[in-house]
Amino acid sequence: MITTICMNPSFDKTVEVDSLSLGHVNRIRTSRTDVGGKGINVAVVARRLGIDARVIGVAGTDGIGRICDEMDKEGVQHAFLPVDGSVRINTKVVSLDGSGVTELNESGPMMTAEVLAEFFALAREKTMGSDYAVITGSLPPGCPPGTCRELIRALNGVRCILDVGGNELTLGVDAKPFLIKPNHHELAAALRTEMHTLEDIRRGAQSFVDAGVEHVVVSLGRDGAMYVGHEGAFYVPEVPVEVHSTVGAGDAMVGGLLYGLLKDGTVLSAMRYGAAAGTASVMTEGTQLIVPDDFLHLIDRVQVQVL
Ligand SMILES: Nc1ncnc2c1ncn2[C@@H]1O[C@H](COP(=O)(O)OP(=O)(O)OP(=O)(O)O)[C@@H](O)[C@H]1O
Ligand SMILES: [Mg+2]
Repeated sequence: MITTICMNPSFDKTVEVDSLSLGHVNRIRTSRTDVGGKGINVAVVARRLGIDARVIGVAGTDGIGRICDEMDKEGVQHAFLPVDGSVRINTKVVSLDGSGVTELNESGPMMTAEVLAEFFALAREKTMGSDYAVITGSLPPGCPPGTCRELIRALNGVRCILDVGGNELTLGVDAKPFLIKPNHHELAAALRTEMHTLEDIRRGAQSFVDAGVEHVVVSLGRDGAMYVGHEGAFYVPEVPVEVHSTVGAGDAMVGGLLYGLLKDGTVLSAMRYGAAAGTASVMTEGTQLIVPDDFLHLIDRVQVQVL
C-alpha cells in the first residue's frame, strides 16, 4: 500500500481557443475538466499499475464530492479533510495557432493552524502501515515554510518520497526523506547553481545524498533521468517515443518508481519502471495519465547505464 498526500487538489480545466487575444473576447472551441493535483496523479498511476493506493489531503467542500467519485472510479482509496471553500480551478488556455498554453491557477482555500494540525493527525493515521508515503504538489496558502519537512518528521517510520521544488525541497531535505525526485531545474534552483552537464547533475544530486537523503532521482525531461544514492549512480537515457503531452510525466515517473520499489525492492530496478511510466505518460494526450499497456511495452526499452 502506498499513500500519497495531496494538500491542494484542483480541477484542471483545459480550453482551446483559435488564437488567444489579450483584452478581447475569446471564443472557446473545446473545454474539458479533469481532477488534478500531483498527489492524485501519482496515486492514480500507481493504481493503474496494480498497486494498492490511497490519497489523502484537504479539499474545499465545494468540489470534494467529484474528487471522491473520480478516485472511486480509479479504485484509489481516499480521505480528504473537508474545509470551507471551493476546490481550486486551474485553467489552461491552449491557443490552436501554436502560440502556446497560458495557465491561470487559483491558489486554493486558506489553511489555518487548526486545519493543518487536523490534517497532520489524519496523515499519521492513514500512513500507518503504508510501505511508502509520497509528499508532492503545491501547498495551499497559509501553510508555513517547512510544512513538507514537518510532515516527513510527523510520519516518522514511514519511508517518504518527496517530490516538490523550491524552498519546500531545500527545507524538506533536513528531515532526510527516503527518496527525492527533483527535475533538473528544481535541483539547480535548490542548489542555487547552473547545471549544464550530467557530471554537474551527478555532483548536485550527491550533495543531497551527503545531506542524508538515501536516494536521489533527477528527472531530465526528454534527456532521461539520473539516479545517485546508496545503490550507486546510474543514467537512464530517454526512450524515443511520439510525444503528445509532457504534463504529469514526473508524477507518472514517481508512480513507476513505487511499482518497482514494491515489486523488486531495489532502486536500480525501480528506475527502469519509473522511466517506463514517465515515458508512457508523454505518449498520452493532454492531462491523461498513462495507459498500462504502453508502460508494459516500454519496460524492456529502458536502458540503465552505470556511471
Ligand atoms: N519529451 C520526452 N520524451 C521522452 N521521455 C520523456 C519526455 N519528457 C519526460 N519524459 C520521461 O518522463 C520523466 C519525467 O519527466 P520530467 O523530467 O519532465 O518530470 P517533471 O519535470 O518532474 O514533470 P512534472 O511536470 O510532472 O512535475 C523523464 O525522466 C523521462 O523518463
Ligand atoms: Mg515534477
